[in-house]
Amino acid sequence: MNNYEQQIEEVLKQLTLEEKVGMIHGDGLFQTKGVERLGIKPLKMSDGPMGVREDFQNGAWMPLNQTDDYSTYLPSGSAIASTWNNNLAYKYGQVLGREARGRGKDVILAPSINIIRSPLCGRNFEYLSEDPFLTSRLAVEMVKGIQESDVVACAKHFAANNQETNRLSVDVVVKEKTLEEIYFKAFRDIIKKANALGIMSAYNKINGYFCSHSKWLLNKVLRDDWKFKHLVISDWGAVHDTKEAAEAALDIEMSVTNDFDDYNLANPLIEKVKNGEVAIEHLDNKIRNILRTMYEIKMLGATENRKSGAYNTKEHQNIAYEIALEGIVLLKNKDNVLPLNKTINKLLVIGDNAIRHHSNKGGSAEIKALYEISPLLGLRTKLGGNVDVKFVKGYYVPEKAKDDVHWQELSLEERVKQEKVYSEEIKVKQKEYLEEAVKLAQEYENIIIFAGLNHESDLEGQDRSDIKLPYEQDRLISEILKVNPNTVIHVLSGSAVDMSQWNGQAKAILWSSYIGMETGHALASIIFGDVSPSGKLTQTFAEKLSDYSSHSIGEFPGNDKVHYYEEESVGYRHFLTKQIKPLYPFGYGLSYSKFSYDNFNWDRENDEYRINLTLKNIGDFDASETIQVYIRNINAEEPMILKGFEKVFLKKGETKAVSITLDNEAFSYYDEELKQFAVKNGVYQVAIGTSLENIIHQFEFFV
Ligand code: BGC
Repeated sequence: MNNYEQQIEEVLKQLTLEEKVGMIHGDGLFQTKGVERLGIKPLKMSDGPMGVREDFQNGAWMPLNQTDDYSTYLPSGSAIASTWNNNLAYKYGQVLGREARGRGKDVILAPSINIIRSPLCGRNFEYLSEDPFLTSRLAVEMVKGIQESDVVACAKHFAANNQETNRLSVDVVVKEKTLEEIYFKAFRDIIKKANALGIMSAYNKINGYFCSHSKWLLNKVLRDDWKFKHLVISDWGAVHDTKEAAEAALDIEMSVTNDFDDYNLANPLIEKVKNGEVAIEHLDNKIRNILRTMYEIKMLGATENRKSGAYNTKEHQNIAYEIALEGIVLLKNKDNVLPLNKTINKLLVIGDNAIRHHSNKGGSAEIKALYEISPLLGLRTKLGGNVDVKFVKGYYVPEKAKDDVHWQELSLEERVKQEKVYSEEIKVKQKEYLEEAVKLAQEYENIIIFAGLNHESDLEGQDRSDIKLPYEQDRLISEILKVNPNTVIHVLSGSAVDMSQWNGQAKAILWSSYIGMETGHALASIIFGDVSPSGKLTQTFAEKLSDYSSHSIGEFPGNDKVHYYEEESVGYRHFLTKQIKPLYPFGYGLSYSKFSYDNFNWDRENDEYRINLTLKNIGDFDASETIQVYIRNINAEEPMILKGFEKVFLKKGETKAVSITLDNEAFSYYDEELKQFAVKNGVYQVAIGTSLENIIHQFEFFV
């Protein structure tokens, strides 16, 4: 970090009250006011996280409909996380940062790093995992990558924004230990380990206070404890009170309405400063943070050296493809049904998701993609004209009427949950589609179903009401499997879905989240065996909703309040403690290849423990495997927790030494009395495996 403090004070002295206030609130839907006479430009922002969003009019939720704001559509957070590949998370960041800069932005509103507390949360597709360690490791890489391009990574949504139902007002009642260990971890780490320059404060309340003006959350935790000196930007419309927001360590108020001068931190603040209700020091501190950030990204100071970025390059598309490939998870492959043989004569492709584009939906994460390769397009381009590829939709997705008003304009009104009630007309259509598919299936030896969700349910502002597949898909899949048990099923979803109805019948199942513009190419490469799958689940796939901790205690989505009574028992921790067998566990994912594991040992250097092994690819495919390290303090009542992982690529026949380091942090817990993290001494059980359910070797050692 550089030291700009003197320059900052110089600039601060020259600013008028009005100029300062102009810099701390939206003067457009995605920008603040600059101060031209001092060379301070407006701060320009854009959503993330799946790419740089299209441009809007400054004062209305109307796209500008330009032809120069198409951009690279990157895989979503849950897809990137499924790669378990730190380097790909970093490359994702590099692409996003370069594209943001290329489009002239200063702040990219990404990554989205909330913890997946319930599979129903509509924004899980943006988030990375139910596990804080995995989320943190990947988020650190993402932020490093983004900020290389002199752009602020504004990570969101701080904090405990784990549901969309009542997101604008819900009060999350949660223990400090739970926040520190589960919900804060990734935010804390991107500040400490990646010098993140931006944090977006969430809509919801925590323990009675709105995140965007909570003095405990922003002043104490973020600024005092974590020493954060850069930008805190409110979520759009998350500020409700001038004095509270002014005195809290929030720097910029953004919102969705165009009455910019009337924002809490606009004219109302000028008045309160003038009549002495708010001390000018609060305002000055915000300006200091903003100026400091501007120097860091070279909007001020050495502006001639600022990176110019680039967008829609071939390199960016290649990275989108690489991530997509590794984000695909092979859940089942009985009798080696996969990969399919490219020399087949005919193929039946079933399912609306085979042809649907997803880029331009989902809420603020929507992307105006330069292109999007659908699964069907990917298959056809892979197979060429000699293979007869037949497509039918199989399930009917009722089209929604187009809204006259952009959803974001209405986003400060709570949305009502949409119940899936199908009209008679829809039911008739569903039956027709199903019958057509089942009839055709009898004629085909090779069938692929592209099933799952779309952004009607993986959507900002709304949670799902259950984990079942919509549009009668369970029935379709079961019926097709009856006709042809070798049918390959790809399930697309941003978070866990229930597959229990047909999981037993199916032989070959692939899963992925939204994997971006190269979806079809990546899926075709996996399905036809050009590349072995290597993705692993970052969320537990359960047999039923009540298996998840928040649902088992009836605390999702709550009403005005939601109590996190499950405490740290989020995701797989709960499944382990309660010994509930999931359908597919955390960390799970198969390969076309096989591996052998040998020479397990550990050694210690100062505070670091190193877990060593050799990994050999003994199968017929070049492939990657991810070694995972889980630990547990024998004397404590906690379950195994992920504390290390390493993804290793091996050509067939190749052997590599793998070494995973556990530092002090791995053995630290939040001590509620000391109010800080402290190492818990004692005997630790260390489990090494390729998923939570496939532990290959265990040690015990004393820390
Ligand atoms: C979302 C944020 C987003 C902002 C601006 C809000 O509705 O919660 O994630 O960055 O809008 O589009």
